[in-house]
Amino acid sequence: MTVPTYQIGDKTFRLLIKNDVLKQKAKELAERINQEYKDKNPILLPILTGSFMFFADVLPHLTIPYEINFVKVSSYGMRMTSSAAPRALMGLLLHLENRHVIVVEDIVDSGKTYQFLSNKLKEMKVQSYLYTALLVKKENVSDEIAIDWMGFDIGKAFVVGYGMDYQEKGRHLKDIYQLV
Ligand code: PRP
Repeated sequence: MTVPTYQIGDKTFRLLIKNDVLKQKAKELAERINQEYKDKNPILLPILTGSFMFFADVLPHLTIPYEINFVKVSSYGMRMTSSAAPRALMGLLLHLENRHVIVVEDIVDSGKTYQFLSNKLKEMKVQSYLYTALLVKKENVSDEIAIDWMGFDIGKAFVVGYGMDYQEKGRHLKDIYQLV
């Protein structure tokens, strides 16, 4: 059986994870949040832009009250296989002190965004935070990066789709594709 591919410029990507599997992971995360945050009114922090599709699949399964603060952590310029340093945090509008916060990431790549955000949340004296990521490049990140919930370990793969891009292309794809 041939594996479906997707072309962006001269780069070829091949199917890695199908949408029904991704949706199942989203449901699993929602179930964990339902169990652990029942009486905590957590603040959800989806990290833009990449997490929008995953986050949209988590929400319908949540049965508890929550608040939302979309956040954009921006890196320098466009990138492909390596992560630039996070430079600015836009959109932390809610008062997070003493609150239970749940970060929802599409991917932990170098771990720089994780470190940046974790430090920010500690500085802001949140009561607790749960760092969740659909994908983690475990081969890239050091042991001190403690992701509390992970969907898939993708090694060093560069991926697009399900919200994630290569030079802003490919975000619309329902499945996740890996660079060949
Ligand atoms: C991606 C992704 C994570 C971050 C992870 O965002 O959404 O937030 O990179 O990389 P790191 O572990 O190396 O810090 P990106 O900056 O590409 O922005 P985007 O989601 O808008 O594409």
